[in-house]
Amino acid sequence: MSLKIAVMPGDGIGIEIVAEAVKILHHFKSSDRLDVEMSEAPVGGAGYDAAGKPLPDETLALARSSDAILFGAIGGPQYDGLARELRPERGLLALRAELELFANLRPAILYPQLADASSLKPEVVAGLDIMIVRELTGGIYFGEPRGIETDASGERRGFNTLVYKESEIDRISRVAFDIAMKRGKRLCSVDKANVLEVSELWREVVTKNASDYPDVELSHMYVDNAAMQLVKWPKQFDVMVTKNMFGDILSDTAAMLTGSIGMLPSASLDANSKGMYEPIHGSAPDIAGQDIANPLATILSLAMMLRYSLEQTALADEIDAAVGRVLDKGLRTADIMADGCKQVGTMEMGEAVLAELK
Ligand code: IPM
Ligand code: MG
Repeated sequence: MSLKIAVMPGDGIGIEIVAEAVKILHHFKSSDRLDVEMSEAPVGGAGYDAAGKPLPDETLALARSSDAILFGAIGGPQYDGLARELRPERGLLALRAELELFANLRPAILYPQLADASSLKPEVVAGLDIMIVRELTGGIYFGEPRGIETDASGERRGFNTLVYKESEIDRISRVAFDIAMKRGKRLCSVDKANVLEVSELWREVVTKNASDYPDVELSHMYVDNAAMQLVKWPKQFDVMVTKNMFGDILSDTAAMLTGSIGMLPSASLDANSKGMYEPIHGSAPDIAGQDIANPLATILSLAMMLRYSLEQTALADEIDAAVGRVLDKGLRTADIMADGCKQVGTMEMGEAVLAELK
């Protein structure tokens, strides 16, 4: 039976970068190396334009009936004035919540060819390979109550709730321990247990679970210190696990260590490893449609899909290696451009990777 892949380019550069990854899928299909069916559906601003809401019913139905989702990016200035429930971001958040994609894996790997693109000194980032495991369906992103209300004096107050159940902490920490077992066997749990009760519980549950993983060395770090340590000496980390919002922030920092946010893929998995795969960068409306965006984060997200949801490790390895060879050849999109390299556009970069795979 064919594998079903839902393709959701979204908005802005999402459209161009997803197109390059889809070409690779077509290539694997037409060369009989992957039995796959692809269906495209609008999400984010495109969902609003097509059906009046950021996650149209048909898009959600397609997501549910697919084996994996390839997602681009969402958002654009033309949607900023919409009511909060209609904004593009809501489409992404609703997909994560509806499909219970609680485990967000964000690897930050520095390709040696890009050591000079990092804003940190090469010796600080050379060989960098961190996995950030971000909780994705709980915490302050989804906690109730939330809102903006007006009190008796007429002053407005905005509020959100940072809440985690033990079961939510339990499952995300187990994902992180399992990943640590397959890597360097070191796990750093990031929290704010010196101030927040919810972090106190987080730390307690993670610590309790450590007894099931005696081979993993567990440490704890407050989030402010973790942010500092990430730019001071990032190679001290192997796997990091943290709440939704801390993970959002720390993963952008980690991305920049690798030279460009345009290089980092992600996987968002449910309890059965069904997943949504997306570059961690946004829709970059300022450069959309100009053929200058970096498609590599999306292409590497496709590799993660093949690895984590479709059990196609060999094809995933091929993509990773092809990206390495293209960088070896000195091809660079604008975001990672360096002296002595050749600057290429989105399509040329995608085609170069495809050529390596052929
Ligand atoms: C991310 C993004 C999203 C998030 C936005 C677009 C809602 O920043 O995936 O990191 O905050 O989770
Ligand atoms: Mg983010």
